[in-house]
Amino acid sequence: MNEATPIKGDQPDEIDFMELDNIIEMDFNNDPENLIMILQAIQGRYNYLPRPALRYIAEKIDVPLSQIYGVGTFYSTFSLEPRGRNIVSVCLGTACHVRGGERVRERIEESLNLTDGETTDDMRFTFESVRCIGCCSLGPVVKINEDIHGRIGAAEIAETLEKYE
Ligand code: FES
Repeated sequence: MNEATPIKGDQPDEIDFMELDNIIEMDFNNDPENLIMILQAIQGRYNYLPRPALRYIAEKIDVPLSQIYGVGTFYSTFSLEPRGRNIVSVCLGTACHVRGGERVRERIEESLNLTDGETTDDMRFTFESVRCIGCCSLGPVVKINEDIHGRIGAAEIAETLEKYE
């Protein structure tokens, strides 16, 4: 078993290294083959991939940090930056665009005072635009976490966002 140590200055207060050990060792057997699943578990826990956690994983499973960053940046489901508790995605694919997706996007930006890719200061919301999430007949579509809000109008945005703490 590798003994990885937290690195000074890496905000160790924010990372529970014992919990990381449980994920890496108990759930995934320190196996480099399980790297993607380990990263999914870390992302599920922190809502993003904290850099200190990635360095810790690299030591524990003996995989180059560059390879871990490569995986973390390749898949769009992973984020290397802190994200809000709720991920708001507005679809701007063709079907949603022609049904008013742009107006919905503008209303979300106004309501949250964010632009694409930004997170509110209270970490409540991260906003992003996406291209087609596979529900074109429901356009315009907004996805919040795993919830699909189809045929949504700009007037419904504020009330919809209120439901997410
Ligand atoms: S274009 Fe929006 S879901 Fe397909």
